[in-house]
Parts: sequence; structure tokens; C-alpha cells
Amino acid sequence: MKFFVDTADTAEIAELAATGLLDGVTTNPTLIARSGRDFIEVVAEICRLVDGPVSAEVIASDHPGMMREAGILRELADNVCIKVPMTLDGLKTCKKLSADGAMVNVTLCFSLGQALLAAKAGATFVSPFIGRHDDNGFDGIDLIRDIRLVYDNYNFATEILAASVRHPIHVLECARLGADVATMPAPVIRNLVKHVLTDKGIEGFLADWAKTGQTICG
Ligand code: G3P
Repeated sequence: MKFFVDTADTAEIAELAATGLLDGVTTNPTLIARSGRDFIEVVAEICRLVDGPVSAEVIASDHPGMMREAGILRELADNVCIKVPMTLDGLKTCKKLSADGAMVNVTLCFSLGQALLAAKAGATFVSPFIGRHDDNGFDGIDLIRDIRLVYDNYNFATEILAASVRHPIHVLECARLGADVATMPAPVIRNLVKHVLTDKGIEGFLADWAKTGQTICG
């Protein structure tokens, strides 16, 4: 399972990239606004920080506008992944860009029908928003299960990128179901590391080690 971080905070991205555990980055207009930085500048910087796909979202709502914006974003780096909304214009743009060799992430997916269309449009990634699904009384994990089943039925190459991930349980459920990628805020990645028994174990080992009076590095 690939781990992407869902942020436009470059300090946070650099820190996670240094662990070697980060496979990519997703951004959206809200995250760009939160960074307070210039969109083009921050996306270019993120693309230098990670080798994997960096999703950058178009703002236009019409196909020609999306194509124009995608053209600018594609010039930034080879690892830019163009994020388009789940609309007919977005799907049309996805089809064109994919045929031209670009990576495309179709975002704001809330139904199996939408996921099926993204795959037919040749998307590299489809982004079901599981947290927002849950917020509205639907089961986001059920959506992941359904998409996995249908994609496997037809051997679609589109990767399921679980988005709007709010906590470690979301990540684990997605992993059980075979989602290809989970994109999550940095604190969720950090929380996956934590376990009270790990902390307690380290504390105990260090206390016993201190009694030996030894050092490893001299
Ligand atoms: O990047 C899209 C998605 O992950 C947003 O998550 O928490 O705003 O629903 P959230």
C-alpha cells in the first residue's frame, strides 16, 4: 500500500520524505490556501521534495480551461499528477491527458458509478473521499470495497487512492480491502507508529540497559 501525505506544507513533506516511507503527495485548493503560498511555486517545490506523484488540482470547470491549466502544471515536473474534478468535463480532460501520457487523479468521488467512469476515462488514480462520506451518513469503507470489487472484475489499472482519511482505522480498513494508496494528513501517519506497549517496552529496555553501565559507541 502506498502512503501519500495530504498537505501543501513543505516542511512537513520534507520531514516525512526523509523517512523513506512517503510515496507521494496530494494537494487541493484548500490545502494550497492554508499554505499561504503561490500555487505554482509550492507545487514545484513539492515535486522536488518527493520522487512520487504530486497531485495538483485544476480550478477551471470547463474542459478547455482544464486543459490549459493542466498544460502549465505539467511543465513544472515529470511527477506532477493532474487532479481533475468528477464532472463530465473533468472526465473528458482525464481521457485526453491520460492518452497524452500524463498522470491524472479524478477527485471528489462519492459513488461506485463515478469510480467506474474514472477508470473508463483512463485515470491513474481515483480519489474516493471516505471521511466526507462518513460525515454524511454513508459508509466510506463500503465504497472502497465496492470499487475494489468492480475494478478487479475488469482488471482496471486505475489505482484506488483513499482520500479524506481521518484516522489510522480508516487506513487499516483500506489496507484490508486492497486500496492501492491512502492519502492522509501527517498526524495520521505519525499516529500509525504509536503504540503504548512500544513506548512502555522502550522505557523498560532503556532502564535495564542503564543498569549495565555500558555504551555502544564508546
Ligand atoms: O485531498 C482531498 C481530501 O483528502 C480532503 O480531506 O479531510 O478535507 O475531507 P478532508
